[in-house]
Amino acid sequence: MKWIYSVSLAVTLAMQPAFADVQPAQHPLTPQARDAFVSDLLKKMTLDEKIGQLRLITVGPENTKEVIRDMIQQQQVGAIFNTVTRQDIRAMQDQAMQLSRLKIPLFFAYDVIHGQRTAFPIPLGLAASWDLDALADVGRISAYEAADDGLNMTWAPMVDVTREPRWGRVSEGFGEDTYLTAEMGRTLVESMQGKSAADRHSVMTSVKHYAAYGAVEGGRDYNTVDMSPQRLLQDYLPPYKAALDAGSGGVMVSLNSLNGVPATADSWLLKDILRDDWKFKGITISDHGAIKELIKHGVASDPEDAVRLALKSGVNMSMNDEYYSKYLPGLVKRGEVSEQEIDDATRHVLNVKYDMGLFNDPYSHLGAKESDPQDTNAESRLHRAEARDVARKSMVLLKNRLETLPLKKSGTIALVGPLADSQNDIIGSWSAAAVSGQAVTLLQGMKNATDGKATILYAKGANVTDNKGIQDFLNLYENAVNKDTRSAQQMLDEAVAAAKQADVVIAAVGEARGMAHEASSRSDITIPPSQVKLLDALKATGKPLVIVLMNGRPLALVKEQQQADAILETWFSGTEGGNAIADVLFGDYNPSGKLPMSFPRSVGQIPIYYNHLNTGRPYNFEKPNKYTSHYYDAANGPLFPFGYGLSYTSFKVSPVTLSADTMPRDGTVNASVTVTNTGKRDGATVVQMYLRDQVASISRPVKELKGFKRIMLKAGESQTVTFPIDVDALKFWNARLQQVAEPGKFSVMIGLDSADTEEAEFTYL
Ligand code: BGC
Repeated sequence: MKWIYSVSLAVTLAMQPAFADVQPAQHPLTPQARDAFVSDLLKKMTLDEKIGQLRLITVGPENTKEVIRDMIQQQQVGAIFNTVTRQDIRAMQDQAMQLSRLKIPLFFAYDVIHGQRTAFPIPLGLAASWDLDALADVGRISAYEAADDGLNMTWAPMVDVTREPRWGRVSEGFGEDTYLTAEMGRTLVESMQGKSAADRHSVMTSVKHYAAYGAVEGGRDYNTVDMSPQRLLQDYLPPYKAALDAGSGGVMVSLNSLNGVPATADSWLLKDILRDDWKFKGITISDHGAIKELIKHGVASDPEDAVRLALKSGVNMSMNDEYYSKYLPGLVKRGEVSEQEIDDATRHVLNVKYDMGLFNDPYSHLGAKESDPQDTNAESRLHRAEARDVARKSMVLLKNRLETLPLKKSGTIALVGPLADSQNDIIGSWSAAAVSGQAVTLLQGMKNATDGKATILYAKGANVTDNKGIQDFLNLYENAVNKDTRSAQQMLDEAVAAAKQADVVIAAVGEARGMAHEASSRSDITIPPSQVKLLDALKATGKPLVIVLMNGRPLALVKEQQQADAILETWFSGTEGGNAIADVLFGDYNPSGKLPMSFPRSVGQIPIYYNHLNTGRPYNFEKPNKYTSHYYDAANGPLFPFGYGLSYTSFKVSPVTLSADTMPRDGTVNASVTVTNTGKRDGATVVQMYLRDQVASISRPVKELKGFKRIMLKAGESQTVTFPIDVDALKFWNARLQQVAEPGKFSVMIGLDSADTEEAEFTYL
């Protein structure tokens, strides 16, 4: 898919003030011109200046503005991250252009993960939209806002496939599926980089975290990854490759070890696969402090050893440690690292700067000083309408007993819960330069939607957690959870009193945003006890109970699923979250999101994922047998399967028809179903196509997603959806690590979630 942006966005962009006149390009943005320019520049550089280009630093207590100024003057730094205003960025670029000998521009990077000034839903929520056009809008707007702040690069997309809800960073990625993650990653790269990363409103992407960070053992952040090469090649690497094929200029290297080798020291990953097999020409960047960490990993004996190992393994730029600058000169002097190796790494850095257009105009993302916004946080800089639209699409209706939802905009509604009026939580973790004060909470959103037509009684009801240890941990680095001054009982009583007066109770519960973040792994993925108590008390009132979940990972919701009349999964839905949730609750938008991850019943089931192998003893719940693969104290399946999500209308899927029952070598087969909206409301849904290789040289998953299509159907309307299946969809990595499609029978399964599908079969000749 090429990057597409919506009409509304095109209008928004057209309305923005013009920036500095674009000078005719002195340096054409072609690989030939770039290579000649960079070769020439390298000849003029001293060894120290080259090493300086490899250093990426952040402004902070250890690197004050004064310290950085000196470093820039002496060309000891190649790029800056975490600075987000044009004024600050301009000051540093001025220093590079005015004070340094060779006037090599800096580039400026930031974690623009789900928006820059406008927070969109967290990536896990974006994935739940299964809407690539919506994602392209998110990418264009995020790039627009980032470039408008003077940034050139983003540390995104994160395409770490994960089957680990315990892992806090599950919130930053697109879930458990390889195909969905690859599509999402590719779309974000295409939309953020636009036609060229050098364009005024594009930024270069840096796909992360290469590789397999999402498979950390036990879901504990930074932990070990150990997996078979087949699984790595088949399930975990394709999304990084898709992002690179889409042109991502950067790759961030992961912090974990993979089969014993830390990624930062893994020349197989960074050279053999990335450069030789995938022909990647951009830049590799270590993650924060990762070069130093090679010592703790136990693969480097001292700092020099770590630096030698990282550089030789293919890490071009070091993030936030002084190791390259400090130790590379000595290593070169002693002949342990060659100047050629330094040149190679420096060339990659200069190449991306060239591709960003910085040698044509170092201020290309800054424009004229007079154009700097008076107020960086001005309302006019936000894209609220687009954020609301995407947020609505990300929400997943998990349960809706007797059509509890949508609600009427009348009567009395009790809105209860620690997340109901929290601006800080709703924007989610990694919210870049988004300001929580500009976020719309659910309380505000419901007030906006009802506009006085219904009475809304609000009560907080509980703290997100009353566990002091957890509160202290989460508040260590940021104000992640606030504790109410009232006692738990007082809060609970107030909530119950509100519920008793109401026709329906909405409980906004789940996690604080800091609970699903980097370094925020959980061993228990239930709703915290303080909120469980609140739900119990609300349930006891006998009023219809709607649970609105806000969380950054799949949660175990067995009890809540029984208690609630309706459950709406809203993730952390961003700046316009409250309005978007209200749109869904009141039926102004019919929910269409689908889960990008299985929701387990308990932590004991993890890892749980839909595309598992069959085993030699698959469990059949209709004919239970002790000696088959199952738990005797719990069901095998998830509480909510991958791809699942309800609507206010109902859909029916016809049997699958195939264009042929054989597929010739390198041919295609088309698989079609007709989907009918059998309910009374218009609505969208996502048609999902899965394949199974029935007999192969290695055991293959019971199903794998190979195509999806989001469709909109008016009440009563039908649409035929066709998925072309080609040989690439049949391929897998065999025991000899060759990517092959083997002849034989394939099942095609099409449905509106991964568990409930229509099935047909064809033979690959
Ligand atoms: C994270 C990266 C992030 C970097 C810069 C690291 O701690 O692992 O994902 O891009 O910090 O903020």
